[in-house]
Amino acid sequence: MMKLPVGLFCLFLAVHATAGPVSGSGQVQSTDTARFVSPFHEKNEICFKCHGQDRYEYSNENLGTVVKDIMCTDRIIGRDGFYGSNHRSFACTDCHSADYAVFPHPGELRMELKYNCLDCHGGDEAFATYSFEEIDAEYRESVHYRLEEYGFTCWSCHDPHSYMIKTRNSSNLRETILYDNNICMKCHSDLSRIRLMAEEGEADIVNKHDWLPNQASHFRSVRCIECHTRISDSILVAHQIMKKEEAVKLCNECHSQNSLLMASLYKFKSKEQRRDGFLNGIILNESYVIGANRNKYLNILSIVIFIAVFAVIGVHIVFRIIRK
Ligand code: HEC
Ligand code: HEC
Ligand code: HEC
Ligand code: HEC
Ligand code: HEC
Ligand code: HEC
Ligand code: HEC
Repeated sequence: MMKLPVGLFCLFLAVHATAGPVSGSGQVQSTDTARFVSPFHEKNEICFKCHGQDRYEYSNENLGTVVKDIMCTDRIIGRDGFYGSNHRSFACTDCHSADYAVFPHPGELRMELKYNCLDCHGGDEAFATYSFEEIDAEYRESVHYRLEEYGFTCWSCHDPHSYMIKTRNSSNLRETILYDNNICMKCHSDLSRIRLMAEEGEADIVNKHDWLPNQASHFRSVRCIECHTRISDSILVAHQIMKKEEAVKLCNECHSQNSLLMASLYKFKSKEQRRDGFLNGIILNESYVIGANRNKYLNILSIVIFIAVFAVIGVHIVFRIIRK
């Protein structure tokens, strides 16, 4: 008699199990752990000798002494970060003048022009999948573009010495979110960096988002760009950061069945999932987005269970009546 609902319940669990564990964290990251050996290792060590840690030394020929000093934090370049970055196969002097080998560095080097991304990647077929030109066009429409006269460039977000693509390659969603948000937080949680470019600017992210419940949890589960960029169909990571008035504030933009996250954060993966025909799989896999998790199989199943429960009650009542 009770076999049917129990069987159904087991089936329910089985469907849930194939949908994957609900926790998105704790996954093992699939990065290449083999250590990269740069053809310019020796050459770069000339620079790393001073720029690789918080202290450096040089000999003062006038005094005939060795001087030890502190390297300012912004001038420290970690070897691990550099050799793990997208541009790890470069020599420092591919981007910087070879005259930097001299110390003290000649003063005019400070005025040296830097390459920008498009100088190298623009119109290059090998990098077509990244759509550099479209990203550039979006960036030109973004709120930061007007700050170029104060030194803002693509490099402001893409640290030349550690930038590494994540969204495209990483299987660890939480880690990707953390990485991407730290890009924004580097400035938006540091008043002195903001004031370099905007005299009246503020760096009070927590208070500016006090309308968002469970803020810490949200910032761990979505990226800043989810709410602040215009959704783009053609590029993977939207780059057009809109004015603050246009940012997403409505809860059901995400907490609904056609969640905007399907076109942004979950875009790359959801494409693969769609091919498998299990549209909502990704949402069930990675995190529980209230309202967005409706899955048609589970929906049908819950209706079946609902009917089954009534059937059991009905049969029960019938037997009672018969027994009386
Ligand atoms: C003997 C130590 C030493 C060595 C070797 C050294 N640097 Fe520096 N570098 C410094 C110090 C100290 C500063 C900050 C003060 C300054 O700008 O002179 C600096 C500043 C810089 C800056 C920033 C300049 C600016 O615009 O403010 C760059 C870029 C740089 N170094 C690149 C290099 C490169 C590339 C190499 C290797 C070819 C290198 N450095 C080797 C000590 C060194
Ligand atoms: C892909 C090009 C590229 C490579 C390779 C590169 N740099 Fe840079 N570097 C830049 C750019 C661009 C800037 C200016 C960043 C900015 O304006 O925000 C910079 C800035 C710096 C600065 C000034 C501090 C800062 O971060 O703004 C130092 C010091 C420096 N580089 C040292 C090095 C050393 C040492 C290496 C090799 C280990 C190296 N760079 C390799 C592009 C590069
Ligand atoms: C001096 C030329 C140069 C500049 C400037 C430059 N890149 Fe690159 N970039 C390259 C080259 C060359 C490679 C391939 C490196 C390799 O395969 O080892 C590369 C690799 C990459 C990759 C990895 C591509 C892949 O398929 O592995 C990304 C992403 C990237 N660059 C983004 C940028 C961004 C963003 C900027 C500007 C912030 C930038 N690059 C600036 C020359 C450059
Ligand atoms: C306001 C910050 C910001 C600025 C400015 C910015 N980017 Fe990005 N960019 C990001 C973030 C965040 C990502 C996502 C990184 C990840 O997870 O892979 C990204 C990703 C990328 C990627 C990889 C996309 C992919 O398909 O994998 C490329 C290429 C890129 N940016 C190029 C550029 C270029 C070119 C510029 C300047 C015209 C630029 N970015 C300016 C924040 C920025
Ligand atoms: C859930 C959507 C959402 C997320 C996630 C989000 N923001 Fe916002 N943000 C907004 C909205 C909406 C506003 C406008 C708030 C208001 O009404 O003043 C805003 C305002 C801002 C402002 C302007 C503050 C001011 O008034 O000067 C900045 C800067 C900002 N956000 C940066 C960030 C950064 C950095 C992150 C990631 C750590 C982030 N935001 C994450 C929705 C979001
Ligand atoms: C190099 C520093 C820097 C980085 C990195 C940076 N920003 Fe900004 N951002 C600024 C400055 C400076 C302003 C102007 C501040 C002001 O006017 O109050 C600004 C303004 C904004 C605004 C407000 C626009 C308005 O309408 O006033 C938003 C939203 C914003 N940034 C989002 C982001 C997001 C999202 C990221 C990461 C993808 C990011 N920023 C990365 C420096 C930065
Ligand atoms: C940019 C998309 C987005 C927007 C906008 C958004 N949320 Fe969320 N929210 C999420 C995601 C993703 C999670 C999943 C958190 C997790 O992993 O547990 C979440 C989780 C939550 C949770 C559970 C928090 C917890 O304890 O983990 C609540 C409650 C919530 N959201 C309420 C809201 C409300 C109310 C609003 C509107 C003011 C809102 N959200 C706007 C994406 C969003």
